[in-house]
Amino acid sequence: MNRIRIVIASSLMLATSLLTATVSAADGVEVSHLGVNNTLVRITGAGKYLLLPVQESNDDAKVSILADGKIEKTINVRLAKNKVDYFVPFDLAPYRGHDILLNIVTTQNRSNIREAKDDACWKNLTLADTFDTTNREKYRPVYHHTPLYGWMNDPNGMFYKDGRWHLYYQWNPYGSKWQNMTWGHSSSADLVRWEHHPAAIEANGLGTVFSGSSVVDSANTAGFGSDAVVALYTSADVSQTQSLAHSSDGGMTFEIYPGNPILTLESEARDPNMFWDADNGRWVLSLAHALDHEMLFFTSPDLKEWTLQGSFGKGIGAQDGVWECPDLFRLKVDGSGEEKWVLVCNINPGGPFGGSATQYFTGDFDGKTFIADTDAEGVIPTKWMDYGKDHYATVSWSDAPYNRRVLIGWMSNWQYAGEVPTMQYRSANTLPREAGLFRAPDGQLYLSSEPVAELAALRDKPSVSVRNKTAGGNGRIFPLPQSNGGACEIILGLDSRKADSVNVRISNKAGESVILRYDTKAHTLSFDRRSSGITDFSQDFPTVTSAPTFETDGKLSLRIFIDRSSIEVFGNGGKTVMTNLVFPTEPYSSVSVTANGGNARIENLKIYPIKEL
Ligand code: FRU
Repeated sequence: MNRIRIVIASSLMLATSLLTATVSAADGVEVSHLGVNNTLVRITGAGKYLLLPVQESNDDAKVSILADGKIEKTINVRLAKNKVDYFVPFDLAPYRGHDILLNIVTTQNRSNIREAKDDACWKNLTLADTFDTTNREKYRPVYHHTPLYGWMNDPNGMFYKDGRWHLYYQWNPYGSKWQNMTWGHSSSADLVRWEHHPAAIEANGLGTVFSGSSVVDSANTAGFGSDAVVALYTSADVSQTQSLAHSSDGGMTFEIYPGNPILTLESEARDPNMFWDADNGRWVLSLAHALDHEMLFFTSPDLKEWTLQGSFGKGIGAQDGVWECPDLFRLKVDGSGEEKWVLVCNINPGGPFGGSATQYFTGDFDGKTFIADTDAEGVIPTKWMDYGKDHYATVSWSDAPYNRRVLIGWMSNWQYAGEVPTMQYRSANTLPREAGLFRAPDGQLYLSSEPVAELAALRDKPSVSVRNKTAGGNGRIFPLPQSNGGACEIILGLDSRKADSVNVRISNKAGESVILRYDTKAHTLSFDRRSSGITDFSQDFPTVTSAPTFETDGKLSLRIFIDRSSIEVFGNGGKTVMTNLVFPTEPYSSVSVTANGGNARIENLKIYPIKEL
């Protein structure tokens, strides 16, 4: 992680003379008020960054950056009105040597210009050579990927090349609420430690940069070189079109293709996701036909010219929200030589517990369209990849080694993602997960997702290690590690054949807790976060989520990952998965196991503190 420090420019001088329109905000920044909603800011001083003061509850101001009178960029920033929540850096380096002017249009209702002049933003505009990204948030996860600062949603364009896992993401570099969509960029050698890089793709005249995918075009089908990484993303303005960008330095920087858009439709479509179809020797692209609640499939010889071949989804599965972020891939069915296709259709809202969630279908792909499996009644069943509330926009890496299918999701929910109690950054990704397919007792194929094996490197020596303990009505209680903000992994094997249900309670001294309840008769596992800590920022947050366990023998093996503001639960080798955010006022400090209606057996319990990364 590159940590850089702010050097706040010296004195904050506000000239109060009413005789001149131009006032000095800080050294080297001149502010001229032109009217109740329009202000010019001229940069006369040195400094790499202009630090923009943000107040999150304020409306967006439209800020156009002019170099020698030419508009270079327009961004939306919640410039501070009566208090500064935090600063975001605007990088002036590209415009140095030119006359730099910001033309700012605000949207507040003002009765006169005096009121506009009083806004906190003007006197706090500051030039600085560095920007401090040291963590300020107690809820920032220790071992999940987060942006250094600013808002993040969907993971985008992930590919593996030359030993590195590249992860791009929907990013707002100018605030911690959704806006100014840009592809942020991180990469990792081990899916555990993430290094942060400069933004990879920024908005241009076709719009901001929405979600998409990347591939390594090793056969040089697109003509950008045999090592080129090619990204397709949605350009979002009044309409949504599909654009191409390519990189010849392994995904560090991208060049936007001048022939964009490469694909247009007459209705809303986004989040292009592509792969090389080796069977048919061409590229396949899945595109979310969002408002029509279907996925479209296109093919191409060269990643530029796309032909519509088929569609899937009208009237099928969950239909209560827009369909977004598709992914289509082939997997081996566990324990057999059989191969099947999986079509991932993220949907928002319409998830099983409200808001956004990841739906998928299993079936076949004939090179043109997807044909879903049906159940015994001939119905195409709705299946969910994760039974928590905070798992969305999940897609997989392309070109992963050893034929691995590694997925990652956005660990939040559109219902409240903008309100969660963090400010420096908003949202983390889920742990990276390895996908598999298994056949359940109902005869259907389901997706399993297990934390990638690399995550075992995070384990410190176990702080608790027990075997064969009986847990009855009074329960057994074990301490949780307190190092690293309580970040830990719990492994718990339960034999619950003689009990009706088992409660696993994760709690702290403030009386806050999460209750996982395994119902041995209903074969379900539920996650109750109604008293987990801070829950009142949204009425949609305090909930109980519930998942099928797919077991038939009253035995459950759990891996529970706690990381300051999230709990991910994986049951029976990834057959049951639940991802939920939690905001305890202090770290959880104990875990207890209590059986109801008979005794249960703790076959094994191990608690691993997470090492400092
Ligand atoms: C899903 C989504 C995508 C879109 C992106 C915009 O969360 O709505 O469909 O490309 O977010 O940030």
